[in-house]
Amino acid sequence: MIAVYPGSFDPITSGHLDIIERSSALYSEVIVLVAVNPSKKPAFNLEQRVDMIERSVHAAGLNNVRVESFSVGLLVDYVEQSRGQVIVKGLRAVSDFEYEFQMALLNRRLKPGIETVFLMTASEYSYLSSSIVKEIARLGGQIEGLVPDTILEQVRERFAGLQATAGAQLVERS
Ligand code: COA
Repeated sequence: MIAVYPGSFDPITSGHLDIIERSSALYSEVIVLVAVNPSKKPAFNLEQRVDMIERSVHAAGLNNVRVESFSVGLLVDYVEQSRGQVIVKGLRAVSDFEYEFQMALLNRRLKPGIETVFLMTASEYSYLSSSIVKEIARLGGQIEGLVPDTILEQVRERFAGLQATAGAQLVERS
């Protein structure tokens, strides 16, 4: 059975990788789908996000996982075209439920043959999100353990210049 795990992955976090690993044990094939959420302004472009996931998946030794991207159209149409039967989503807290429930019901209405399956995020990652990782990196905090080791440097480098700018602004104001 083919499962599709969609998200912005801007960037992939350890919580996402946990869901990918567990999905790969449940399904014969998992497609991690880097999708565009028009309400978000990403820090990494689609190509970079795909590359970061590919390196993380490779380092984790997951052979039945591939990474794709898509920027136009409905998720359910992509899943159908890929011969997928399942959409995998991670649930971190009760606060995720309402939005995810709405998405799952809408997706089922659009394509009744496709099921959404929720995996509970591992408790140690329940507080994690891509935005939190970016905020910590931007402010010069430690992000070890929050993102896969293989992408640590890339995330740090992306925000290194911004730390310098934020620091300079603070000096200017004082
Ligand atoms: N570990 C860590 N973080 C997690 C997580 C986990 N297990 N599960 C979710 N998150 C975080 C994500 O990083 C994201 O953080 P951010 O808001 O800081 O970026 C947040 O939780 C929300 O995740 P999600 O609900 O998956 O949103 P998303 O923006 O990553 O992805 C799409 C949303 C792309 C899947 C959705 O917009 C979509 O399906 N688009 C396609 C178009 C379509 O079909 N639309 C109609 C749908 S009915």
